[in-house]
Amino acid sequence: MIKVGIVGGTGYTGVELLRLLAVHPDVQLTAITSRKEDGLPVADMFPSLRGRVNLAFSSPDKADLSKCDVVFFATPHGVAMAQAPALLAAGVKVIDLAADFRIKDKAVFEKWYKIEHTCPGLLDEAAYGLAELNRDAIKGARLVANPGCYPTTMQLGYYPLLKAGLIDAGSLIADCKSGVSGAGRKAEIATLFSESSDNFKAYGVAGHRHTPETSAQLQKFTADKVGLVFTPHLVPMIRGMHSTLYGRLTKDVSNEELQALFEAQYLDSPFVDVMPFGSHPETRSTRGSNMLRLALHRPDNGNTVIVLVVQDNLVKGASGQAVQCMNLMFGLEETTGLTQIALLP
Ligand SMILES: NC(=O)c1ccc[n+]([C@@H]2O[C@H](COP(=O)([O-])OP(=O)(O)OC[C@H]3O[C@@H](n4cnc5c(N)ncnc54)[C@H](OP(=O)(O)O)[C@@H]3O)[C@@H](O)[C@H]2O)c1
Repeated sequence: MIKVGIVGGTGYTGVELLRLLAVHPDVQLTAITSRKEDGLPVADMFPSLRGRVNLAFSSPDKADLSKCDVVFFATPHGVAMAQAPALLAAGVKVIDLAADFRIKDKAVFEKWYKIEHTCPGLLDEAAYGLAELNRDAIKGARLVANPGCYPTTMQLGYYPLLKAGLIDAGSLIADCKSGVSGAGRKAEIATLFSESSDNFKAYGVAGHRHTPETSAQLQKFTADKVGLVFTPHLVPMIRGMHSTLYGRLTKDVSNEELQALFEAQYLDSPFVDVMPFGSHPETRSTRGSNMLRLALHRPDNGNTVIVLVVQDNLVKGASGQAVQCMNLMFGLEETTGLTQIALLP
């Protein structure tokens, strides 16, 4: 059994990790931390886990994380980088759900996250945890940077088109929407019920932290200079993410060829569903599951290709993706413990 520790067990990605790992056949939950809830049984805070998780939260200084085989950091940025070096030295693998190891360039990280990076020596080693595009590196990794939720949709949607050189890399436009759980469980005015329900707004239009992460990854797929306009929106739902990706076609290609390109690319990726050309994936078709669904459109058969991408921000966008990485790091089937079907309605 893989002994698992979770730092930040009281947040939304933390409890999602608990939901998935409590029924994972190869995992033994070993330590779950919270600074505020030291000693509280996990099931007292989350009754959904009664009878499934019998541990109590412990404060990070008391939890002996070095006895784990792998530790997930479901914490704000800056926490994993402070603890990863000691854990790695003790032979513990680390999966960070925050951004500490996603951006390889220290200066770019510090510019966007406004904190000093305290272990830049680990940036090159960290594997970017997008299994569909980086499976082999994840398999051999002891440190994984789990991708951001929006960047997951943008990369899986744009990758086949950029790799095949079919779209203008310099004019990518991503219009993306997230449910409110994307902001985490901490109390904030913007996520109060009366502020976020029955309302719809863009945010971070002038610049969002997921832009440098996504641009750097997309740049690996093409020799042309990537230009990405990314506009995130908050929608009044709890879970779910919908990204509408626009690309300007630069080559003569049929709709059938576009569809075949995506189907071939994701043939061996069990968590990417390429839907029939022209279909409209719904966020609820991924709710609670690790599935990402996408569909291609081409209005009026013109030179704009649109990729619609949906996922559950807390599963494929965060905790499910992290478990997918853990499975690869420990030589398990990629799908182990992740075969839940989406909840509907
Ligand atoms: N929500 C999403 O959809 C989503 C998607 C992709 C990635 N992410 C990323 O995943 C990470 C966690 O997100 P979340 O939405 O789960 O956040 P959250 O709901 O706000 O939870 C944060 C957790 O971290 C703990 N924590 C906070 N500061 C800490 C510190 N200094 N040391 C140790 N523990 C600390 C908190 O517990 P205590 O305060 O009790 O210690 C809490 O359990 C973030 O980096 C986020 O950007 C989130």
